[in-house]
Amino acid sequence: MKKQEKIKLRNINKGDLNCFLKWWRDEELIKLTSGIYIESEKILQNLFNKMLAKNNEHFMIIYNKKIIGHISLTRKSRTIFEIHIVIGEKKYQSLGLGTIAIKKALDMGFNILGYKKAYLEVRPDNIRAIKAYEKCGFTKAGFNKYENNKNQPVVLKMILAAPSWN
Ligand SMILES: CC(C)(COP(=O)(O)OP(=O)(O)OC[C@H]1O[C@@H](n2cnc3c(N)ncnc32)[C@H](O)[C@@H]1OP(=O)(O)O)[C@@H](O)C(=O)NCCC(=O)NCCS
Repeated sequence: MKKQEKIKLRNINKGDLNCFLKWWRDEELIKLTSGIYIESEKILQNLFNKMLAKNNEHFMIIYNKKIIGHISLTRKSRTIFEIHIVIGEKKYQSLGLGTIAIKKALDMGFNILGYKKAYLEVRPDNIRAIKAYEKCGFTKAGFNKYENNKNQPVVLKMILAAPSWN
């Protein structure tokens, strides 16, 4: 079976908490994402509960029936959504699986949910992520500055419009 067929996205459920507790306490991963390391299980549980309450926006990435990561499609307006992705299980990174998961999420966003534009923000030095996004069709659209956010003061914005035949 091809990698494309082995990757599935499914809505998160309460049994997924331990995956997030592991990934959110992985300093290497946190440095590539929010930059905010939180130790407190109570705070992390609250974050997870907020995601569960929007379980139609949050998906576990399954490869060969094993959970390897998380991808979200956050509604920003009727036509625009934002993507976040983490392949939390590191041995599954850099194998092309993130690119496949992003393409599946885009397909859902554009062809099932009816959005017209996708965007994301990425650290400018996260070259692996930028390459994966470019392979999915995203293009660079300048930098956003968050002067009050010491964990992520500058991010690269990347955008993608739904294919014009939609
Ligand atoms: C970013 C992420 C989703 C990408 O998914 P992935 O499955 O690892 O990436 P892919 O294998 O599909 O593609 C990565 C590309 O970067 C390249 N790459 C890998 N490591 C690299 C590095 N250190 N420097 C430059 N390029 C690199 C790969 O060769 C591949 O390009 P290619 O197909 O042209 O050879 C995944 O690595 C991840 O979750 N990382 C940790 C969290 C993170 O960074 N999230 C994104 C936050 S915006």
